[in-house]
Amino acid sequence: MKKIIAANWKNNGSKEFIKNYFDYFAKNLNNTNKNEIIFFPPDLYMDQIDKYSKKLNFSLGGQNFTSSGDDFTLTGGTSSKMFIDNGCSHILIGHSEMRLYGFDTYTPANLLCFTHDHLQAILCVGEDHNDKKNNHTSEKISKQLKDLYENEFIPKKVIIAYEPVWAIGSGKIPTLDNISFIHRFIKNNILEKLPSLKEKDIMVLYGGSVNLKNAKDILSAPHVDGVLIGGASLEVKEFTSICNLKI
Ligand code: PGA
Repeated sequence: MKKIIAANWKNNGSKEFIKNYFDYFAKNLNNTNKNEIIFFPPDLYMDQIDKYSKKLNFSLGGQNFTSSGDDFTLTGGTSSKMFIDNGCSHILIGHSEMRLYGFDTYTPANLLCFTHDHLQAILCVGEDHNDKKNNHTSEKISKQLKDLYENEFIPKKVIIAYEPVWAIGSGKIPTLDNISFIHRFIKNNILEKLPSLKEKDIMVLYGGSVNLKNAKDILSAPHVDGVLIGGASLEVKEFTSICNLKI
């Protein structure tokens, strides 16, 4: 079954790294599963990577978003229009690292511009270590999902990345049953609040220490529509093998 395989490069990469990476990727990508591949590189390298996107059939996304570009000016900001101008179709919002360091400048109102600008937002949600310890996972995620509902618009498609903060970069992942349970919880929560959506319009990706060893099991778990991969997406052999998986 076709899945979303997304690479979150964070603040990694260089021109030389990208050249070598896509030389290998072009030669070894054999995506018979027709997985939808999305790269989230640093903004500065978007244009260089966009040159490979058509030939290799992947999408591009920004890692954070500041404004639509019309509503306010912000030193250091990148507008949704600039992402589109550089070939992007997706944008990550609410990643836990951005939330933690206060760089996350999106607001529920800003989500509006995604419908106007045709960018697909991927909203990251997930519990931290304390939430987990205190059994507050569902409560935390419900609060984070509220950002989707505090708008007047109904998105046509919703993509959520469930990323337990304690799993990111730690080598630890929840059990497959827990991943499925939370993905189901997220889908039900959205369907309850946005009843005009159908289940097939809601996709939930899992992120946090995904690698070649665990990717197939995670992608095969019920209610998992894809993965968002950090560290392992920088290892081109490993990431290419994950893209080539048949689920
Ligand atoms: P990781 O990062 O795969 O290195 O755990 C995932 C993320 O932060 O999106």
